[in-house]
Amino acid sequence: MSLPAATGAAFRQVFGEPPAGVWAAPGRINLIGEHTDYNDGFALPMALPQTTVVAVRPRTDGLLRLHSTRGDGRVTVLDTEALAPGAADGWARYPAGVLWALREAGHPVGGLDLHVDSTVPAGAGLSSSAALECAVALACDDLHTLGLPRTELAGLAQRAENAFAGVPCGIMDQIASLCCTEGAALHLDSRSLALRQVPFDLAAEGLGLLVIDTRVSHDLGDGAYAALRAGCERAAGLLGLPALRDLPPGDLPPALGALPPELVPLVRHVVTENARVGEAVALLSAGRAADLGPVLTAGHASLRDDYRVSCPETDLAVSAALAAGALGARMTGGGFGGSVIALTPAEAAGTVTRAVTGAFARAGHRPPAVLRATAAPGAHRAAPAG
Ligand code: GLA
Repeated sequence: MSLPAATGAAFRQVFGEPPAGVWAAPGRINLIGEHTDYNDGFALPMALPQTTVVAVRPRTDGLLRLHSTRGDGRVTVLDTEALAPGAADGWARYPAGVLWALREAGHPVGGLDLHVDSTVPAGAGLSSSAALECAVALACDDLHTLGLPRTELAGLAQRAENAFAGVPCGIMDQIASLCCTEGAALHLDSRSLALRQVPFDLAAEGLGLLVIDTRVSHDLGDGAYAALRAGCERAAGLLGLPALRDLPPGDLPPALGALPPELVPLVRHVVTENARVGEAVALLSAGRAADLGPVLTAGHASLRDDYRVSCPETDLAVSAALAAGALGARMTGGGFGGSVIALTPAEAAGTVTRAVTGAFARAGHRPPAVLRATAAPGAHRAAPAG
């Protein structure tokens, strides 16, 4: 049975009635453009085939009842009228936060029953929380015929994560989950929210893309991400700029000379990373995906040496993948653990997987989980009611 069909069937078992519909939203990887979104910069994510699926039925009494296949079996019951930051915990913060954000923005969204299942690994830096938020946001938009643009739904999902769940993330993950399309990477301008689909058909170019989940669980709510974000904002303020996006690469040397030493590597990463997004888009647009490799690897070096968000496991996955024939490799997402992506010739994917797995075993790390990524569709209504 497909995941949407199974999720619909499980809803019926838990709540005793069929759902009004089933919605799916994917996890993502980011090809390049890391820690740029909250600097008003650029990113190039793509959706994964792994999705979070919600089966939903509106209620008329204002109650929000939440159940997950992966939870402890209990149904969490909340009152939509009493929703406020802190009113929910664990995974329930994400769906509850989306309802709260929609209602705060004045949209007439009432209670609902919701059952969720997911194939997006949690804590792997692949945006499992954004996938859940976006599936719920799209379900509410459809069920209440709100007709909100997807970029606006992404903004509301981000608000749920920032203000309700307390994670100060940028907007990339929610945009990726809602706006990516099959066979393309998404060029995101985080300031204007202008989006461009950049064709990314790896198989046609004889390439493969591996996602190596280091299984070092990443947590962006623990303060380190917020500190980096604050450092960037402070640097922009000292330079008299609205955001670091406004610093052109040519102005980097004098700008770095004017900053306190602790902010120098942060600014260098953000400015060079924005430039790498431009390079990557130009290569893909010219049908030269294989030449993306060095851009990815340079991005990793910058995250490791300047932004300092890699860890021994992500660094080892990158070096082992490169030594085994990957064309380029880098950590993806916020860092502090999570996943690495490796671009390989299609025929080298197995060799690279075995090399990374072997290197982890020799280093005494837990075995990584390796997925093969293709550019999958963004969030969508997944199955008819019933
Ligand atoms: C996390 C955040 C995103 C983005 C990335 C780093 O995934 O949720 O908004 O900042 O880290 O690029």
